[in-house]
Amino acid sequence: MSDTPHNQKLFIETVGCQMNMLDSELVVAALRKEGYQLTSEPADADTILFNTCSVREHAEHKIYSALGRLRFSKRGRPNQVIGVIGCMAQKDQELIFQRAPHVDMVVGTGQLAQIPEMIKAAREKREHRLAISLDRRDATRQEISDSFQSYDPLRDPEMRPSPYQAFVRIMIGCDKFCTYCVVPMTRGPEQSRPPRDILREVTQLANEGVKEVTLLGQTVNSYKVTQDGKLWRLSDLIMAMHDTPGLDRIKFVTNYPKDMTDDLLEVVRDMPKVARYLHVPAQSGCNEILKRMKRGYTVEDYRDMMQRINDIVPGCAVSSDFIVGFCGETDEQFQKSMGLIREFRFKNSFIFKYSPRPGTKADDLLADDIPEAVKRERNNLMLDLQNEISEEDNVAFIGTEQEVLVEGPSKTSLKHETDPDSPATQLVGRTRCDRIVVFEGNRRLIGSLTKIEIHDLTRTSLIGHIVTHEVQHGSAPSLLPILG
Ligand code: SAH
Ligand code: SF4
Ligand code: F3S
Repeated sequence: MSDTPHNQKLFIETVGCQMNMLDSELVVAALRKEGYQLTSEPADADTILFNTCSVREHAEHKIYSALGRLRFSKRGRPNQVIGVIGCMAQKDQELIFQRAPHVDMVVGTGQLAQIPEMIKAAREKREHRLAISLDRRDATRQEISDSFQSYDPLRDPEMRPSPYQAFVRIMIGCDKFCTYCVVPMTRGPEQSRPPRDILREVTQLANEGVKEVTLLGQTVNSYKVTQDGKLWRLSDLIMAMHDTPGLDRIKFVTNYPKDMTDDLLEVVRDMPKVARYLHVPAQSGCNEILKRMKRGYTVEDYRDMMQRINDIVPGCAVSSDFIVGFCGETDEQFQKSMGLIREFRFKNSFIFKYSPRPGTKADDLLADDIPEAVKRERNNLMLDLQNEISEEDNVAFIGTEQEVLVEGPSKTSLKHETDPDSPATQLVGRTRCDRIVVFEGNRRLIGSLTKIEIHDLTRTSLIGHIVTHEVQHGSAPSLLPILG
């Protein structure tokens, strides 16, 4: 019998964005404290958790299919607990039990702290357990906000996928209500975490050896908190954490174009540990479509923002997201998005086919009238254009020397399981402008800033070698403004 957590095995599958990756890390850490061990085999697991995403239908299908496969295997394991947690739990609620009655618990993004107790309870008494937040139409803003609790327990260094990199949540929720998007429903109202909690977490992470933090928020540059009578913006928060000893790099995602203020760009320019990289999704290059999406800006506004980025932080890399085949998108309108990619030459773009989401304005009011084949074709055309541009612009890096934060062995070297003691293995890291660099080096370099000379390219990465005259370990130089 496996009644005590000490011999419990946990399997967790995570889909979706960085928020979900962080949530899973924290949930696993909490369960490990209770004595659970991770397994990569669902068949061996006493507890199976799916941390889910609802942003596109495909992500939900994946989870419902996985749940379907478990229906029969559970019959042979009456003690097994199956939980659906995260965004789809908040969105589909009871519907999950209807579609998959063998699921024991459904836990929304605002109730993740309850998971250890809920698993115990599920094992003691078999019944469907549901813990979710209020719907956004069902109560006052304050009541809804209170029902979405940010889940940020003490960090457990053993649970991080990389000892040198960590996500730090600075906000939850979103209030922009783009017409296609489910996130304001699944993550609740926008709420910024207090600076003192964030700064304490960053210091703790740096003390544990973390070199790079990525600050997370759905619209991270909308961060705003008044603490002890002082207003904190994202720029203030970054300044306050910048000199944390041991920390080498600070990134933040995802930016909202309208909230890209000069104070933030000046911090990116002046503070040496801040990545010169901004992910600012445009979604479309056509004003009618942007309006239909209720994005809150025009192409001209986006262009002004790009101009300010280039004026204040020359050479800053910018990446974007695009949705193709949104309701009523004509070929001409699609070509305007292609034009935007040509004009701004993004470092990379994430491209998505529009997927209607129940409960959103677009799904209620607009017809999903672009055939799947057209969406697919537009997606491929856009991907080809973006790849061509990324590759062309990467050529400019050949012959340059880049400061790379070394992240770990490359995928290829992991596949071939090179001898960990061998002097050189294929490593991967990122430049300050977030470009991927692959090079040969000793594993001891992992977690350090290393100078790499770029001599070649692949479609997605720069290829380089270590600059032998100067190898730099450890922290970035102290606060020297880079004037550019
Ligand atoms: N908060 C971020 C993005 C959140 S979702 C922002 O505002 O930029 C990540 C990306 O998924 C979005 O940028 C958008 O491009 C895409 N996306 C969101 N809803 C979608 C939908 N219904 N269909 C297709 N793509 C979608
Ligand atoms: Fe969704 Fe728009 Fe909010 Fe991003 S800003 S999470 S796309 S509603
Ligand atoms: Fe998906 Fe939720 Fe993230 S819907 S994209 S996991 S916020």
